[in-house]
Amino acid sequence: MRALIRNGTLVTAADTFEADLLIVAGKIAQIGIGLTPDDQTEVIDASGCYVIPGGIDPHTHLDMPFGGTVTADDFATGTQAAAFGGTTTIIDFCLTQKGRSLTESLQEWHNKAGGKAVIDYGFHLMIGEMNDRVLAELPQIIEEEGVSSFKVFMAYKNQFQADDGILFQTLQKAKEYGALVMVHAENGDVIDLLVKQALAEGRTAPIYHALTRPSMLEGEATGRAARLAALADSQLYVVHVTCAEAVEQIARMRELGYQIWGETCPQYLMLEQSIMEQPDFEGAKYVWSPPLREKGHQEALWNALKSGQLQTIGSDHCSFNFTGQKDLGRQDFSKIPNGGPIIEDRLSILYSEGVAKGRITLNQWVDLCSTKASKLFGLFPQKGTLAVGTDADIVIFDPSIARVISAETHHMNVDYNAFEGLQVQGCPVTVLCRGEYVIRNRQFVGASGAGQYVKRSKYDAGEPLPSRKKRSAMAALNGGRS
Ligand code: URP
Ligand code: ZN
Ligand code: ZN
Ligand code: ZN
Repeated sequence: MRALIRNGTLVTAADTFEADLLIVAGKIAQIGIGLTPDDQTEVIDASGCYVIPGGIDPHTHLDMPFGGTVTADDFATGTQAAAFGGTTTIIDFCLTQKGRSLTESLQEWHNKAGGKAVIDYGFHLMIGEMNDRVLAELPQIIEEEGVSSFKVFMAYKNQFQADDGILFQTLQKAKEYGALVMVHAENGDVIDLLVKQALAEGRTAPIYHALTRPSMLEGEATGRAARLAALADSQLYVVHVTCAEAVEQIARMRELGYQIWGETCPQYLMLEQSIMEQPDFEGAKYVWSPPLREKGHQEALWNALKSGQLQTIGSDHCSFNFTGQKDLGRQDFSKIPNGGPIIEDRLSILYSEGVAKGRITLNQWVDLCSTKASKLFGLFPQKGTLAVGTDADIVIFDPSIARVISAETHHMNVDYNAFEGLQVQGCPVTVLCRGEYVIRNRQFVGASGAGQYVKRSKYDAGEPLPSRKKRSAMAALNGGRS
């Protein structure tokens, strides 16, 4: 397709300006003032709208087995819902199993996504064990498969959890080969104990999911992971940060010059723990890990986004139906599948609650929802910005449209919406992935399988601090001894 987007306001992580944008053969061919179309060029009028780089969701779980069931959204329904919400690339988590080759697990994820995804996608790879086979596979996973980020779980004992030795070695290897290590930071051993104690006392309702995973255990694990990253002189990305304690740990290590990055999610900015106490098991709709927190943490998260202490917004989309899936834990909160449906409303909520309410700027919105993830996960500059030569992944976002989020109208394949009834200002109206319409005037016009797998470059997120400064930073962490 050859198209000219006219009369819009272009917004990148750096700039906001009025200009026209020409798309040729899937790429941005020209950005300029007063561009004129020829006969072969379709004109898209973006009057009154923002024209932004397509959203990049660095944290999704589609078609994933978990807690004795499989997520409600697969790569077809999940990516369609993502597209409605202005996301044009996702990076999904590929699970692995002990004793199984990493390449085989990746192939399984390719089979899930191929022919189904309507937007582009990449994979993070879970590391659950460390041995000669894993070590032998890692360089090729990065170089040839284009997978430059690894996920280590510090929680979900006896399921996904890895020990500190595995985490540390993953950090060392990531440093050596050029990858980013992601952690789910909660103290899984202590949580396992608290869960057993709660159940033994007959505390089985959904709220005990939150009460057995206190924020202190997230802060502790975050600080531990960050120190291990510092010791390995490596790089760390903390997924789904929910609380002030974890933000403090990330901020402190960043001040010392370490490459520690943090993501939060719309649910932690918007929903508070008390909704898990709703009667009739309704609280199960909001069971995810880490859990929702008391209201005070929300302000800490917004402040961290504003000040740059947290850098990205992921959805952590991991949807389970209330009926038939969340149900599995009616008698025992620890059997409620963890996760929620968020993939569709990430950009809208951040615009409406963030930009429209003056908490973040337009440029921060684009950076948080697209550009920063592109840079950290090796997609930049192909994706995540508006520049000549880059993929024409573009969202036309109309800030004048108001709508109410509801399961009645959403496009996720799940029977409830965690933000039911929330009024949001602004809506993606047209979404292009590599220059082709996926959403046109709020209608899906894309095609299953049109989404492509993207191989990502190695981790490279700017200049490391000089080692002298790092040594003194390490001394400060050790209480003055170096
Ligand atoms: O509850 C959640 N977050 N489910 C998805 C898996 C994870 O921990 O990210
Ligand atoms: Zn997690
Ligand atoms: Zn997750
Ligand atoms: Zn619709």
